[in-house]
Amino acid sequence: VRNLFLVRHGETYYNREDRIGGDSDLTDKGLEQAHALAEHFATVRIPIIFTSNYKRTLQTATPIAERQDPCSIIALPEFNEIHAGVCEGMTYEEIRRQMPHVAKARGPNKYRYVYPEGEGYATMEERVHRGLKKVFFLNNYDENIMIVGHRAVNRMILSCFLSRQEEEIPYIYMPQDRYYHIQIDPHKRLFELVPYKN
Ligand code: G3H
Repeated sequence: VRNLFLVRHGETYYNREDRIGGDSDLTDKGLEQAHALAEHFATVRIPIIFTSNYKRTLQTATPIAERQDPCSIIALPEFNEIHAGVCEGMTYEEIRRQMPHVAKARGPNKYRYVYPEGEGYATMEERVHRGLKKVFFLNNYDENIMIVGHRAVNRMILSCFLSRQEEEIPYIYMPQDRYYHIQIDPHKRLFELVPYKN
């Protein structure tokens, strides 16, 4: 059995405003979450942490890596968050008001919808799979794996291990105060949502 720890980055300034996209930093609360994760995983051996290229995943992974001995962080562009194109940096409320056509078209078909000049869940699928192949190639067979990703990317990753209907994927619960622990076994897939803060 192999362990995959799928973590979402801690709270960012954009998260606080319900803003999507961008490359926001972690808030103090986000940094606290990163340190709580570091404490939580201090006795679990994690030789490599995979992140995206965005600051929020690197800032979450850094304290965790510092508690490990040794541990490297590998940033993969394949795990960058869904690119919201013309909606990058907007809040969902601003999208509803300023681009009602986007909100209207995305609502009923969230998986297939592609943001103008950006991506959609469906168009992200191939690159996320490519990222996962790299992860399995770079880790030794019996080592624990940690990925610190984003809401949409983590939903895609989780859906690779659990069979989910396409239309359910964009709604998978992906909170910032707990992580998914996926046990990869040749015969079965087990997963649990683990809180890391009491
Ligand atoms: O756009 C970035 C969000 O983290 C993805 O969330 O697909 O539920 O809008 P959403």
